[in-house]
Amino acid sequence: MYVSDLALNDFRSYREVVLALEPGVTAFVGQNGQGKTNLVESVAYLSTFSSHRVAADAALVRQGTGGAVVRAKIVHGDRPTLVELEIVAGKANRARLNRAPARTRDVLGVVRTVVFAPEDLELVKGDPGHRRRFLDELTVLITPRLSGVRSEYDKVLRQRGALLKSAGAARRRGGRVDLSTLDVWDGQLARAGAQLVTARAQLVRKLRPHVAAAYDQVSAGQGAARIDYRASIDVVDETPDLDAAELADDSAAGDAARGAVEAREEALLDTGAVTQRLLDAMGRLREREIERGVCLVGPHRDDLVLSLGTLPAKGYASHGESWSYALALRLASYEVLREDEASPWGRDGEPVLILDDVFAELDSRRRERLAGMVAHAQQVLITAAVPEDVPAALDGARFDVHGGEVTRA
Ligand SMILES: Nc1ncnc2c1ncn2[C@@H]1O[C@H](COP(=O)(O)OP(=O)(O)O)[C@@H](O)[C@H]1O
Ligand SMILES: [Mg+2]
Repeated sequence: MYVSDLALNDFRSYREVVLALEPGVTAFVGQNGQGKTNLVESVAYLSTFSSHRVAADAALVRQGTGGAVVRAKIVHGDRPTLVELEIVAGKANRARLNRAPARTRDVLGVVRTVVFAPEDLELVKGDPGHRRRFLDELTVLITPRLSGVRSEYDKVLRQRGALLKSAGAARRRGGRVDLSTLDVWDGQLARAGAQLVTARAQLVRKLRPHVAAAYDQVSAGQGAARIDYRASIDVVDETPDLDAAELADDSAAGDAARGAVEAREEALLDTGAVTQRLLDAMGRLREREIERGVCLVGPHRDDLVLSLGTLPAKGYASHGESWSYALALRLASYEVLREDEASPWGRDGEPVLILDDVFAELDSRRRERLAGMVAHAQQVLITAAVPEDVPAALDGARFDVHGGEVTRA
């Protein structure tokens, strides 16, 4: 697929901009702060309803205005689809598909993007939250229905957390705690949580060979990358003495034998069994959860463990290795989306690649290898401060971005 037309109104720094784009490589070139990222961010936002830069939508709306509109024509094979999204700060987005009002979730997946950005280094070096978000956003692109499950889970998590806190406070005052409401939340958390866990574990299986292959290519054979899903439910189940258990978010790479790791992963693919295990774990952890006022088990405490050879990448990988790993995760996402046969777009579901200011971050060898690997994608949108940052293999159309004006060079 590719984006053939893009129009923004009051999105970020743009009052109005209209662009005609082509398949192949397009570079947006300009000094910092001129609005390059804002352009590609709008395309990425259409695909996931989230930005790689901010958590809240308010920042996407041009300062001093009430709402932003992003309009794009997406071409799948030879079928064009017109997507329109109105972003109103603090309210639900309004969507239109081919000019007819549509549910926002019907727009999810129409545009598929894979974004490479300097922030990706956090996938390797940062908190597990970055890696969970990476898995969840990709999951939703493949299975838009899970977007609802994801919001449901977040809602239940907040409400159950609030209940645990007030139960803890009541207990400390010596009052009685009504635990029947908690049982209801446990059930909801387990059902929504298990669907997320299973979807993520399935995704990790699909990504794994691609991550290994992409890492091998980006690093020119400098290491064996392997990704594993680390579920908090496994930590709880494998720790008989819960008081000694380390339920910290930051679980280290499992050193268990490969066979055990594989069996654990296999077990996560059974949603019914995971639901039951989550319920059992919440039962065992109840006292601790009330005491601490937080939900201690579930997909919000899971992690994606990135290993290089026998070491975890986090805390061990060099800066260059971390970059190779981050690129490998994005390249693997691209491959998984490309081979997703269940996509409503079939073979035309190949995502648009967005490379936001990444070449300046990479050494020349990684730059050239990455360029070679993405050069043949159907559409690649690149931002760079100077034309020299764009590798020769990615020669294509160019727009200059300056002071809010975008002009074809
Ligand atoms: N909601 C907004 N309203 C007005 N201006 C904004 C908004 N969000 C970002 N900007 C402006 O956009 C500019 C940054 O644009 P960006 O695309 O990140 O630049 P770059 O070309 O470096 O990628 C900054 O000057 C910032 O102040
Ligand atoms: Mg930028």
